[in-house]
Amino acid sequence: MIDARLPLTDIHRHLDGNIRAATILDLGREFNIALPANSLEALRPHVQVVENQPDLVSFLQKLDWGVKVLGSLEACRRVALENVEDAARAGIHYAELRFSPGYMAMNHNLPIAGVVEAVIDGVRAGCQQHDIDVRLIGIMSRTFGEEACLNELEGLLAHRDGITAVDLAGDELGFPGSEFLSHFNRARDAGFRITVHAGEAAGAESIWQAIRELGAERIGHGVKAVEDPALMDFLAENRIGIESCLTSNIQTSTVAHLSHHPLVKFLDHGILATLNTDDPAVQGIEITHEYQVAAPQAGLSAAHIRTAQQNGLTIAFLSEEEKQRIR
Ligand code: HPA
Ligand code: ZN
Repeated sequence: MIDARLPLTDIHRHLDGNIRAATILDLGREFNIALPANSLEALRPHVQVVENQPDLVSFLQKLDWGVKVLGSLEACRRVALENVEDAARAGIHYAELRFSPGYMAMNHNLPIAGVVEAVIDGVRAGCQQHDIDVRLIGIMSRTFGEEACLNELEGLLAHRDGITAVDLAGDELGFPGSEFLSHFNRARDAGFRITVHAGEAAGAESIWQAIRELGAERIGHGVKAVEDPALMDFLAENRIGIESCLTSNIQTSTVAHLSHHPLVKFLDHGILATLNTDDPAVQGIEITHEYQVAAPQAGLSAAHIRTAQQNGLTIAFLSEEEKQRIR
């Protein structure tokens, strides 16, 4: 259960994986983009996971229609604003929303720095209308290679003040972290906080590398850490946070069944692990589902769930003073 006395956070939430189906229809019409269906009901299976996917890459394809309809910077701004609205409606007090500006830009040749600016602007407008605090994490999508990631980093650097952290997402097996060392050196030099998707499709070595070579302070998913006792100790001792996304891990076939999910082991080991969504609209879930349904199925007790909720603010990319001001 969610503890109403503690702030509710979602610190692993992709805004480009959370575009409303109704907005996809609407923008599709606006920009004359032929969609696979023209009603909400018929569109749903194309933009939402209705059965578990065989792997991460198949899962990620479900995000493609959402970005195909981003025909203007105004559309990007709208999607960012709606994301804030959806997070606030879900009862979230503090969200870290992440997005890949290059992925959002690529279908209509939008300027990447312009996308970054539009997202910052949409989030700012959303925060003025709703009782929620939001920080932004800029993603480099490894799937599109080193040069595309460099372009994303440059777009993020152009709006440095509006972006809190940098992440690496996409096809972890096809594009190992070793290809992005110089990107992360630059990101750290610019003072960005660092989180990396690791140990989701690839193994524990990918997590070690994210920490040692890319400078990750937190790990997205990190499921495979459970296979390496030394890594488990290292994560706990060095307070490296884990952003767990239970339902996502089932839908990507990273974990076969929730009862096998390592989150309980992470928490019992003293690792600062948290509950988050990932791509809520694509997954057909919200953060409440992760707390009320997925976490108990993953074997978390009420005390585990409370600890995970507390950890959300503990590992948030905020200063200690900013944390005091959340709620
Ligand atoms: N892993 C990697 N990249 C992603 C994910 C994920 O779970 N969701 C959206 N982009
Ligand atoms: Zn993710």
